[in-house]
Amino acid sequence: MTTGQTLLKTNALTKRFGGLVAIDALDLDVKERSIHSIIGPNGAGKTTVFNCIMNFFPIEGGEIRLSEERIDNMTPDRVAFRGVGRTYQNIRLFKNMSSIENILVGMHMHLKSRWWGAVLRSRHSRADEKKAVEEATRLLQYVGLRGKGDVLARNLPYGDQRKLEIARALAMKPKLLMLDEPTAGMNPSESLEMVGFIRGLRDQLGITILLIEHHMPVVMGMSDTVTVLDHGTKISEGPPDHVKRDKKVIEAYLGQSGVGHMA
Ligand SMILES: Nc1ncnc2c1ncn2[C@@H]1O[C@H](COP(=O)(O)OP(=O)(O)OP(=O)(O)O)[C@@H](O)[C@H]1O
Ligand SMILES: [Mg+2]
Repeated sequence: MTTGQTLLKTNALTKRFGGLVAIDALDLDVKERSIHSIIGPNGAGKTTVFNCIMNFFPIEGGEIRLSEERIDNMTPDRVAFRGVGRTYQNIRLFKNMSSIENILVGMHMHLKSRWWGAVLRSRHSRADEKKAVEEATRLLQYVGLRGKGDVLARNLPYGDQRKLEIARALAMKPKLLMLDEPTAGMNPSESLEMVGFIRGLRDQLGITILLIEHHMPVVMGMSDTVTVLDHGTKISEGPPDHVKRDKKVIEAYLGQSGVGHMA
């Protein structure tokens, strides 16, 4: 699976926060239809990689390309429009909106006219709205939230909120989906279900997955490629079996209290 074409590439990507080098000249090569994981101890710079790709803040050096096109000079909206979707480490839903409304918000950029809001009441926008609601309902079903369209996001159990975030990202029809710790806070059986689901995103929908994950069985069980970051630097990369045995990786994890082991 790792011999395909490159979808996302970073060259010498560098991000600093004041004196801190959060990402140091990182080269990433994410192949189409692969599951590519980024792992590393807390503070290694994993989430910052996602934020740089979305261009949430300017980078200090290097470049980012999606299907060879430079995206590091685009606004986050444009990056999303080009086909990059993401979920957040700390779930970011509109908690007082229903599940379906959360998806519709994620979808508005794909509609021909912006039906969102009272001003837009042409026949065209009503047709768009109907289509959007149908599509949102289909997405809810796809992520396993059938019948929960009217439930307020804040009333969904935690695992369902994570699924809803994925549904919202899928509404943008991403080529690349970046998932920031999708199994955080899940029990082992929920995690296992999520693994199957993520595989399905690749195998059924052809989506490329860039995954940040702390659960090593999840990472090692489904990744085609694993990139290991430590203090913003890539210390190892390759298939799970290679990375698992890499001394530098084991040392980086041993040096960390808390999430200590490479299971
Ligand atoms: N917006 C920001 N402003 C200042 N410093 C930041 C910002 N975002 C991240 N950092 C710092 O950059 C470093 C990398 O943070 P990042 O969140 O990318 O780590 P991470 O690998 O995702 O960690 P975790 O596993 O805990 O989520 C950390 O030292 C963090 O404090
Ligand atoms: Mg993080």
